[in-house]
Amino acid sequence: MTQIKSMFTTTDERMRQLLEIEGTVTHLTSILDVLFWDQRTYMPPRGIDGRSKAMAALEGTCHEKFTNPKIGELLSNLENDPSDLSLYDMALVREMRRDYDRQTKLPNEFVIRRAEITSMAGAAWEQARERNDFSLFAPYLEKIIPMKIEEADYVGYEVSPYNALLDEYEPGMTVDKLDHVLGNLRQSTIELLKKISASGYRPRTDFLNRKYDPELQIQLAHRIAERIGYDFSAGHLTRSRHPFTVNPNPGDVRITTRTYENFLSACIFSTIHESGHGMHHQGASMELLGTRLIHSPSYGIGESQSRLWENYIGRSGVFWEFWLPELQKVFPDQLKDVTPEEFTHGVNAVKPSLIRTEADEITYNLHVILRHEIERDLIEGNLSVNDIPRVWNKKMREYLGITPENNRDGCLQDIHWSRGAFGYFATYSLGNLYAAQIYAVLKKDHPDLEERVAKGEFAFIKQWLTDKIYQHGKVYTSDELITRVTGEPLNPRHFVEYATNKFGKIYGFQ
Ligand code: CO
Repeated sequence: MTQIKSMFTTTDERMRQLLEIEGTVTHLTSILDVLFWDQRTYMPPRGIDGRSKAMAALEGTCHEKFTNPKIGELLSNLENDPSDLSLYDMALVREMRRDYDRQTKLPNEFVIRRAEITSMAGAAWEQARERNDFSLFAPYLEKIIPMKIEEADYVGYEVSPYNALLDEYEPGMTVDKLDHVLGNLRQSTIELLKKISASGYRPRTDFLNRKYDPELQIQLAHRIAERIGYDFSAGHLTRSRHPFTVNPNPGDVRITTRTYENFLSACIFSTIHESGHGMHHQGASMELLGTRLIHSPSYGIGESQSRLWENYIGRSGVFWEFWLPELQKVFPDQLKDVTPEEFTHGVNAVKPSLIRTEADEITYNLHVILRHEIERDLIEGNLSVNDIPRVWNKKMREYLGITPENNRDGCLQDIHWSRGAFGYFATYSLGNLYAAQIYAVLKKDHPDLEERVAKGEFAFIKQWLTDKIYQHGKVYTSDELITRVTGEPLNPRHFVEYATNKFGKIYGFQ
């Protein structure tokens, strides 16, 4: 039996060559991350033209270097004779093959056409949303959908073209698996929502909308991020319109947050969310530096690491036993009449609403499921573009019990389809499901988790996640990783149990 080595085999000439090319590509790509981050934080407004061109030029260079036929030859050679390869070698070959095929299978003419259509569609979508007029965006969707099917044809798929699109964000995911998982989740969420509504309890949320100085919010964000374990010697936190994380390398992982003067939750939970992404990337083994393996195995696993901190830790009652007194020191007037329990209930309040990004932990998945079902039907030819608004509103009524008054607050609210990102939405819910499954094992391994969080202890959680998940980057596929950590493949039962238990307690039906 071959011993599994967790290092790259630089003594193998083929691996040495592959790592050399991969190093160049990965380091160049990491510069794009820094440029992207800078563009959305500190770049002066007039820098945009030059910056767009600089990034396009660098992207072109990366693409050229990565589609070099030499890589294809090395990969085939290594695939045909993998006898001396280590775990890391094999993971790198697998991931480079995946990306190499995706990039080389698309004809140049198609890539250019796709960029043109989606860039025009982006502008049309903005206008359509502003004027609340779906007919301005529909003609672009009529072009984007056949284009995505064409893309699936180039990439290759079994059963449904939607599988090829899902695979881009969640390798290995299929429409059958997803329909099963999300179908279950939809039913149990709708039932849970009925119980919540029937309970009659409405947590107070008034204190979240008092006036909070944005500068003080940012100071607090730094303290929370640092205390839960985000490493400022390998990171940076600043403000942007939409919070995000970039990962140039494990020693430089930058996060952003946002502040609203009249809504405290946005800053706190965006900060915890992005800190979760940040710690995940900071925790990748330095052995993986210079390869694409420093990243997450999939969008779903990536999102599970932010959600775990944001919702499972950050929205728990014990978290606020520790943090509310700290917040009260910073905002004494605004929070003097609030107990930790009221605060916890307030930041967990469930209320069906029209906008996905503002949704609570429970209804959020219904927003995602609705989008998944619509885009699946569009790609599989079972729904036409003109029917989107009608089907959207019908599903909103069925799942959430509310109907958008206009398309701006309905099917025009998200940017994803204008960019051609079909298959992306589902990964938001997959993140929630993976997080529940991982959290269940974390709690089993640390039965005293709640007492320790209530005392402001977080290091043991980060350590556990580093051992189980962070350090491995993309060495394991998402299926392999979730099975290694939890002993079973993706199972939505854990989320349903967690949600029923948590919200049952808050709403008093448990
Ligand atoms: Co995220």
